[in-house]
Amino acid sequence: MTAERVRVGLEGRAYDIVVGKDVLAGAGREIAALTKSRRAFVVTDENVARRHLERLRAPLGEAGIESAVAILPPGEATKSFAMLEHLTGLMLDAELERGDFVIALGGGVIGDLAGFAAGILKRGIDYVQIPTTLLAQVDSSVGGKTAIDVAQGKNLIGLFHQPRLVLADTGVLDSLPPREMRAGYAEVLKYGLIEDAAFAEWVAANAQAILTKPGSERREAIVACCRMKARVVEADEREAGRRALLNLGHTFAHGIEAAAGYSGRVLHGEAVSVGCGLAFELSERLGLCEAGTAAQVRGWYAAAGLPARLSDLPDLGATPEEFITHMAQDKKAQAGQIVFVLARGIGKAFIARDVDAQIVEHMLTEALSDRPNSKAKA
Ligand code: GLY
Repeated sequence: MTAERVRVGLEGRAYDIVVGKDVLAGAGREIAALTKSRRAFVVTDENVARRHLERLRAPLGEAGIESAVAILPPGEATKSFAMLEHLTGLMLDAELERGDFVIALGGGVIGDLAGFAAGILKRGIDYVQIPTTLLAQVDSSVGGKTAIDVAQGKNLIGLFHQPRLVLADTGVLDSLPPREMRAGYAEVLKYGLIEDAAFAEWVAANAQAILTKPGSERREAIVACCRMKARVVEADEREAGRRALLNLGHTFAHGIEAAAGYSGRVLHGEAVSVGCGLAFELSERLGLCEAGTAAQVRGWYAAAGLPARLSDLPDLGATPEEFITHMAQDKKAQAGQIVFVLARGIGKAFIARDVDAQIVEHMLTEALSDRPNSKAKA
């Protein structure tokens, strides 16, 4: 199967996303074509290192690229100030110079942290994203958002720093746990929900193939998402407007993840799945889209084995007010007003800045009281 290339056409900082089985084997050649330097610094986590590190270092070595490696603990807690300090210290000890490359080999946590470290090291050195989860391949590795989490919220300290190349090897997904695949699928379907109803229907109809088979449907889905994301990033790199559409379901998702303490109890994609259901429900309640649209969206997510309602998640012990407080920490909030991505139908998302917080609180109260022993007030 040949690889496909999607160009992110940012002026002066354009780069390719290469998608296909075994693109990892060509990593040395691809990276050597971008720089005269023959030194790279690979950032990865313990789980990914076990499965894929040698599959990367071998082709780097064949291309004459010498690589130092930092193997970090897996999990969201790695996106911390302490780990950023540790990692940049290792990079300085390795005497990385401008012209050398950082390579992020892993999921969203590694991509966000390594990209941030590369962005601030010696005022910015280049990096390559090699995403190893479906979620990272279709979303976080593309578009240059890098960040760490702090006590006040997720991704609140970071910068825009575009990678020079993204290598999305569809073969590495074969070793991903099914739960992680489903979490990535939540973002795949999200692209259709935002701007392409026909794509949403195609994704829903091919959910099992995308989730379980390393065949053409999976690659087609990844390429389509990367194309959509590339067009959005080209139009609005720094999220002054349209890029915020990619956050469909994310305002609620951030509330859910914060209530879960950013633990593995709820994966980001699971929170996005529930969040998209809530975004469509809110759109219905506001009379923006036809009754039944939220049920359709939730049906698609549930059919893929994802939680589709708040009551499908473990009890997070948060009240509606607490959810709203967490949601207000969202980076999109403006003048204290929470910004939502709502929809006039499937594929018709838009940004709403004037949603009545009481309607949201009422909806969350009902959603939380689906659960026995909930703290929600009736
Ligand atoms: N994950 C949303 C974005 O990159 O804008």
